Amino acid sequence: MGKNIVIIGSSGAIGGAFTQHLAALHPDATVHAYSRTPAAQAAPPVVHHLIDYADEASIAAAASQAAAEAAIDMVVVATGILHTEEIKPEKSLRDLSADKLQHLFAVNAVVPALVAKHFLPQLNRDQRSVFVALSAHAGSISDNEIGGWYAYRASKIALNMLIKNAAIEVGRRNKQAVIVGLHPGTVDSYLSEPFKKSLPTDKLFTPAFAAEQSIRMLDRLTPEHTGRCFEWDGQEMAP
Ligand SMILES: NC(=O)c1ccc[n+]([C@@H]2O[C@H](COP(=O)([O-])OP(=O)(O)OC[C@H]3O[C@@H](n4cnc5c(N)ncnc54)[C@H](OP(=O)(O)O)[C@@H]3O)[C@@H](O)[C@H]2O)c1
Repeated sequence: MGKNIVIIGSSGAIGGAFTQHLAALHPDATVHAYSRTPAAQAAPPVVHHLIDYADEASIAAAASQAAAEAAIDMVVVATGILHTEEIKPEKSLRDLSADKLQHLFAVNAVVPALVAKHFLPQLNRDQRSVFVALSAHAGSISDNEIGGWYAYRASKIALNMLIKNAAIEVGRRNKQAVIVGLHPGTVDSYLSEPFKKSLPTDKLFTPAFAAEQSIRMLDRLTPEHTGRCFEWDGQEMAP
């Protein structure tokens, strides 16, 4: 039987690239691709499903659906925001608001936490299984030298702690689980739009390159790495 793979956020640039790359690598797999909007196309082994991240029951139903036929071998949580039409990344404390902080925490930390709550119990226990949530280098406290982006940085740090906690708990009963955070590099997407003009072109990855490198790195991780956060090239993210 082929692998049972789940992508949460398959409509995003990186989530879409993970979906395509994993489908190409594992043609005999089932790749359950979840997003809030209908997919333009989904050819086997990809099966597209709708999900409402704002409704925990929808996340729970997705987990039951994806695990109905077989335990899950890999979950990629590729949702996350830096800005919206209304919210711009803060340059100063003056730009902070409770609404902005709460919205970024809700999307960047609460959604992955609820996905973890419902999908981690469905991970394969008989062989190595992976749960990876897209975090960000911006969530490193020790590497934060320029400040700004208060809500994004803080929400990603919260996500990293949620990953660590879940890894400790799940690791007690599932010795095969690898639960990690991932910085995919700086990737050309809606999310990177506001700051990508200031980057040299060789520092801006295509989503396809980021997914390919990240998947290669994830393939090398073992349960000994669980609970930690990694960069796309395998370096551990500084906490
Ligand atoms: N791009 C980069 O340079 C970069 C760097 C470091 C880390 N990351 C991380 O990688 C992840 C994916 O980023 P991306 O570059 O692929 O961005 P993207 O193309 O803008 O995709 C964003 C994803 O987040 C989902 N999303 C948007 N608003 C949401 C909401 N209110 N609630 C729940 N989900 C929502 C989107 O789903 P819909 O399509 O349904 O709206 C989509 O799946 C994020 O966690 C980001 O922090 C990206």
